[in-house]
Amino acid sequence: AGMYSRTTAVPALPAPPADPARRVVILWASQTGTAEDFAAATAARLSAGGHPAALLAMDEADPAALPSDADLLLITSTFGDGDAPDNGAGFWDGLDALDTGRLEGRRYAVLAFGDSSYDDFCGHGRRLDRRMDELGAVRLTPRTDCEPDYETEAELWLDQVLTALKDATELLPAPPGQALAPAPAPTPFPASTGAPDAAPATAAGPASQSVVASPSAAPARSRRPAPVTARLTGNRLLSLPGSGKEVRRFTFDTRDSETPLVYEAGDALGVRPLNSPDLVAEWLAVTGLDAHARVQVNGVGETALGEALLRHLDITRITPALLRFTADRTRDPRELRKLLRPDNKDELAKWSWGRQAVDLATESGVRAGAQEWTDVLGRLQPRLYSISSSPLTDPHLVSLTVSVVRYENLAGRPRQGVCSPFLADAAPGAEVPVHVQRSPHFRPPADASTPMVMVGPGTGVAPFVGFLEERRARGHRAPNWLFFGEQHRATDFYYEEELTALRADGVLTRLDTAFSRDQRAKVYVQDRIREHGSHLWSWLRDGAHFYVCGDASRMAKDVDHALRDVAVVHGGLSEPEAAAYVKQLATDKRYVRDVY
Ligand code: 2AM
Repeated sequence: AGMYSRTTAVPALPAPPADPARRVVILWASQTGTAEDFAAATAARLSAGGHPAALLAMDEADPAALPSDADLLLITSTFGDGDAPDNGAGFWDGLDALDTGRLEGRRYAVLAFGDSSYDDFCGHGRRLDRRMDELGAVRLTPRTDCEPDYETEAELWLDQVLTALKDATELLPAPPGQALAPAPAPTPFPASTGAPDAAPATAAGPASQSVVASPSAAPARSRRPAPVTARLTGNRLLSLPGSGKEVRRFTFDTRDSETPLVYEAGDALGVRPLNSPDLVAEWLAVTGLDAHARVQVNGVGETALGEALLRHLDITRITPALLRFTADRTRDPRELRKLLRPDNKDELAKWSWGRQAVDLATESGVRAGAQEWTDVLGRLQPRLYSISSSPLTDPHLVSLTVSVVRYENLAGRPRQGVCSPFLADAAPGAEVPVHVQRSPHFRPPADASTPMVMVGPGTGVAPFVGFLEERRARGHRAPNWLFFGEQHRATDFYYEEELTALRADGVLTRLDTAFSRDQRAKVYVQDRIREHGSHLWSWLRDGAHFYVCGDASRMAKDVDHALRDVAVVHGGLSEPEAAAYVKQLATDKRYVRDVY
């Protein structure tokens, strides 16, 4: 749960509804908490605006039993390349099973979060939107697809929803005598009458209780926790010279911070970087603008352009807005316009490879004013990394395992990521604002006797270093098994020393590695999983939890496939049974992923 569902979604009597006939039900599905946080913030804003809103996770709702008098807001992320998040899969299956026209007369809106580096950007949200339409429901407002960090787009969507709800309410005749008198408190949702179409069919229980956001809740825009200033005290190279990568362990010390940084193994850390001063200088040179020009930055106020470029604006990403801005100001916009066509995602991805926003500005030679640039560039967002330590080792220290992004652009000019080089090149002891992004489902087993299997190739090993530290500190005696993979054993065996020590201690029971490029044929973690399938199956039978962290687009899918194969080959299940088995593992929170 994100901060918001904890602090603002308290059961309370909402303000009188503007339209007593219409309730709003917010259904969310989330993998990392972004959609969940935004759903909670949406509930708070709706309640503050006089629309009582019930907040439900999709796995607490039955699509066949949605209340007929409620407007539905569906807020979902997409898992990896187009899949439903774990707690949205069942709801999707339920929607899929409904007959066409079944949701006629309902009104809905979809907000989709996703990662635009995937082909199927926001694919799950898109499919939900289409399915609701097929079922006969009517859109209150068009779907918005956005990146988790795109607060502005999500908030524009929310503004549109509020306007649509208001317009729809004003079109309805006011019920006599209702204009001034407070409306009766609406029935809490869900009310288990069992009548289809009138109430959801979810079992009543603590998790499915009516949750109505308090009208006094904070507005949507402050949903991210306030940053804590941490000191970067550790910066250790994990990859060795000769590696194709630069992977580092960063450690922050928070002992001098004003507020303590509270986290658990499995959480992520949001880091707020600055842009590189060299890149800011290049921007100023390319655009011909003066660093001292005064600009207005949304949410910040007036500041110098140089400051805005350094601290507040995303000056690396080529967003659709920036492409449009450039196309509108260039002599021959044909190529850019073509890239902007929705059916040209592949071409856009190919074209964007090795290019940054400043490269686009250089190639196009666009001239615009300081304020215009400020308005088109997005806000510089915190970067999230899986935490790679346990607070039980030292509550003041928090570590990350990060691959540092540096490359050459098409013209051979050095380019780099924003946050990873910011940390890699920071002075020792530098003060960095950070915050904790909780991932309540991504935790080592609470039970001391539950075995765990971890699959973490590359920097995907990050959280598992924390999981193992945690189990050691707790004295949990259950067996632990890690699958790690990288290119070469000689240069890329991150944490070899620590893992060897954990093996010697008996905390790490099994360690299987897949060094993909140490032999002619590639070997990946999923090959090791198949190789040791019979053992793995016996661990799963003993109740092991199965964790995966790392690349979502290929690795996580391949590992998922290998897991099903193990259930077929060693569990004697049919393909559909194996799929159902793996799905059940996920439902039971025994199969948990942190993939990106
Ligand atoms: P490769 O780069 O040699 O292809 C960490 O990046 C490790 O994950 C590397 O050894 C990388 O191998 C490997 N890897 C690449 N694609 C993968 C996939 N689809 N499944 C699992 N591992 C993969």
